[in-house]
Amino acid sequence: MAVIDVRNVRKSYGKKKKKTEVLHSIDVKVEKGEIFGLLGKNGAGKTTLIKVMAGLLVPDSAEGHVLGYDVLKEADRIRANVSLVAPTADIGVDPVLTVRQNLLFWTTVYGIPSKKMQNAVDEVMEALDLMRYKDAWAMEISAGTRQRLAIARALLVKHELVFLDEPTVKLDMEAAKMIRNFIVDLRNRYNITFFMTTHLIEEAEEICDRVMIIDKGKMKALGSVEDLRRKYSQEEEIIVKGNFDERVRNLKNFWNVEIHEIYEEEFDNIQRDTELRFKVENVDSEISKIIEAVKEHGEITDVLTKRLTLNDIFEKVIS
Ligand SMILES: Nc1ncnc2c1ncn2[C@@H]1O[C@H](COP(=O)(O)OP(=O)(O)O)[C@@H](O)[C@H]1O
Ligand SMILES: [Mg+2]
Repeated sequence: MAVIDVRNVRKSYGKKKKKTEVLHSIDVKVEKGEIFGLLGKNGAGKTTLIKVMAGLLVPDSAEGHVLGYDVLKEADRIRANVSLVAPTADIGVDPVLTVRQNLLFWTTVYGIPSKKMQNAVDEVMEALDLMRYKDAWAMEISAGTRQRLAIARALLVKHELVFLDEPTVKLDMEAAKMIRNFIVDLRNRYNITFFMTTHLIEEAEEICDRVMIIDKGKMKALGSVEDLRRKYSQEEEIIVKGNFDERVRNLKNFWNVEIHEIYEEEFDNIQRDTELRFKVENVDSEISKIIEAVKEHGEITDVLTKRLTLNDIFEKVIS
């Protein structure tokens, strides 16, 4: 059974005339142990969708289940069985308690029996490499360490579904990388399902098994990064320049290739070079074959490639 299986999520804010719909019929299905990325620009509706799925916000409509609980009728059960880390790690972190005291405080909030408190705290401190900061005041640790503390808190109870809303926002590259490594490590170790949001496409590309791109509350793309690449394929290019004989045109029988003559004005419009633009699904799998074939027809002076980045896909789907 899918950990999240909700359909037709609609949500608007405001009343009557001023009502604006920010989620327009979104479907989400996430399997156990997946790291699922929700991508979109600021204001796309990511946080709203997370709140609905975590049982924190009542949608205008929705059907389906989260952890087997009805998303509308059993929101209280959902809230009790998922963890959520808000974008600002400072929420839930008391600056004048030490790292360890913060976690101990939360064990009581979560109702962890006193016998198990120490173990629970030690385990999450180990898992997020916080042992060496255990006696540091929360206000003294770096933003990245504080974010790890916030995630550690969320993991005190071993919920199988954890929502991370912009887990790396405001962190420097190194701290963000560390958080990503921990997310993957925690998934591998405990088979936790992570549903995370980010506006960084590279972040999703690095750790998410699947991504969903939303824009203005609408789903624009869904799948693994590989799936998305394939879907938008035929858009990578290999550009080969050189002096070739006429038969180079026969390459059109084998590839989708545009042939351009390049003239240089200072040489009185004498043709200098020919440019062959191959449209391919995948640069890496085609490049050596193409170079071999082109070589038959003359001398290659330059080879350029245009690969499709996840950012290109992002721009395409939301434009
Ligand atoms: N409590 C609220 N009241 C009114 N509008 C809101 C509220 N929360 C969010 N919005 C609006 O809903 C849209 C989606 O917001 P949000 O879900 O926070 O997007 P994201 O997390 O992708 O940045 C935005 O236009 C935002 O201004
Ligand atoms: Mg948000």
